[in-house]
Amino acid sequence: MPDNFPYRKALVIGVTSGIGKALAEKMLQAGSSVIGVGRRQDRLDEFVKMGGSKASASRFDITQLSAIPDWAASIHKEHPDLDFVLINSGIQRPFDFAKPETVDLKLMELELMTNYTAYIHLAMALLPYLQQRAGSGPAGIAFTSSGLAILPMPRVPNYSATKAALHHWVLTLRQQLAATSSKVRCIELFPPLVDTELHDDKHQPGVKAAVSPYAMPLDQFTNQTWTALVRGDEQIPIGMSAKHFEAGGFEAMRQDIFNAANGRVYT
Ligand SMILES: NC(=O)c1ccc[n+]([C@@H]2O[C@H](COP(=O)([O-])OP(=O)(O)OC[C@H]3O[C@@H](n4cnc5c(N)ncnc54)[C@H](OP(=O)(O)O)[C@@H]3O)[C@@H](O)[C@H]2O)c1
Ligand SMILES: *[C@@H]1O[C@H](CO)[C@@H](O)[C@H](O)[C@H]1NC(C)=O
Ligand SMILES: *[C@@H]1O[C@H](CO)[C@@H](O)[C@H](O)[C@H]1NC(C)=O
Ligand SMILES: *[C@@H]1O[C@H](CO)[C@@H](O)[C@H](O)[C@H]1NC(C)=O
Repeated sequence: MPDNFPYRKALVIGVTSGIGKALAEKMLQAGSSVIGVGRRQDRLDEFVKMGGSKASASRFDITQLSAIPDWAASIHKEHPDLDFVLINSGIQRPFDFAKPETVDLKLMELELMTNYTAYIHLAMALLPYLQQRAGSGPAGIAFTSSGLAILPMPRVPNYSATKAALHHWVLTLRQQLAATSSKVRCIELFPPLVDTELHDDKHQPGVKAAVSPYAMPLDQFTNQTWTALVRGDEQIPIGMSAKHFEAGGFEAMRQDIFNAANGRVYT
C-alpha cells in the first residue's frame, strides 16, 4: 500500500467548486500536478493562482461530446505524463415524474448527458493514454458517482438513475480492465450528501437550506476520501452509503454475486 498519493499528474474534470476542487487541492498539497477542467474561466483562473506552478487549467464543457476526442488528444500532447483522471463534473435538477406536465425533458437530457453519457465519452477518449502510461508506473481513472447510485431518492429521480447507470458501468469496466495486461486502477467515489454548490438556489430553489443541516461538511468528506484514495481503495463509499458495502450489506452481497458470476474477485 502506498502511503502517499501514487499519481504525479492528475486531470480533474469539475475542478471549479465542491468535491473536485477540494480533492484537487489535496493532490497539489501532496506534490502532484493538477490540470483542472470546468466551464467557469474565473474559477479556473483562481485555481491556477491558488495552485502555483503545479496547477494548470483547460476550459472545457463536457457536454460537447463530439469535441471530446480532440480535446483529450490536446491534453495528452501537452501532458504526456498524465497518470490519473478524476471525472467528477455533475449537475442536479429536481423533477417530479408523477406530474409529467412539469417535467422539462430537454433538461432531463442535459442531466443525463452531463452525468452519464459524457463520462463514458471522456473515459473512452482518455483511457488509451492511461493504458499506455500504466506500462511505466501507476495509472488510475476515478469516477464520482453517489450514494444515490445504490439507493435512489424520489426528489431527484433522473439523477439517481444516471448514477445507478454509472455505477453498473464502472463495475463492469473494472472487471474488463482487470482482464487486460495494462494495470489501470478503476476507482469509484460514492459521496453522501455533501455541502457544495450542487444544491445552490440558482437551480434548486430552497433545497440548500433544507439539505445543509443533513449534509456532511466538505472538508470532512474530503479527508475521508483522501485517506481511502491514498490507501488504494477502488470503491470509496463515505457516510451513509458505507453500510451497504460492509459484510452483509446489500451492495456487498450484490457484488459477491456479480464477482462469482464473472469468475473474478477484486476488492
Ligand atoms: N454534493 C453532494 O451531496 C453529492 C453527493 C453525491 C455525489 N455528488 C457528486 O459529486 C460530483 C461533484 O459535485 P459537487 O457536489 O462538488 O458539485 P459542484 O460544487 O456543483 O461542482 C460541480 C463541478 O462540475 C463542473 N461541471 C458541471 N457541468 C460541467 C460541464 N458541462 N462541463 C465541465 N464541467 C462541468 C462544474 O464546473 P463549471 O460549472 O465551472 O463547469 C463544477 O466544477 C458530482 O458528480 C456529483 O454528482 C455530490
Ligand atoms: C436526466 O439525467 C440525465 C443524465 O444526467 C440528463 O441527461 C437528463 O437531461 C436528465 N433529465 C432530466 C429531466 O433532468
Ligand atoms: C448529475 O450529477 C449531479 C452531480 O452529481 C447530480 O446532482 C444530478 O442529479 C445528476 N443528474 C442526473 C440526471 O443524474
Ligand atoms: C482535514 O484535514 C486537514 C489537513 O490534514 C485538517 O487541517 C482538518 O482539520 C481536517 N478536517 C476534518 C474535518 O477532519
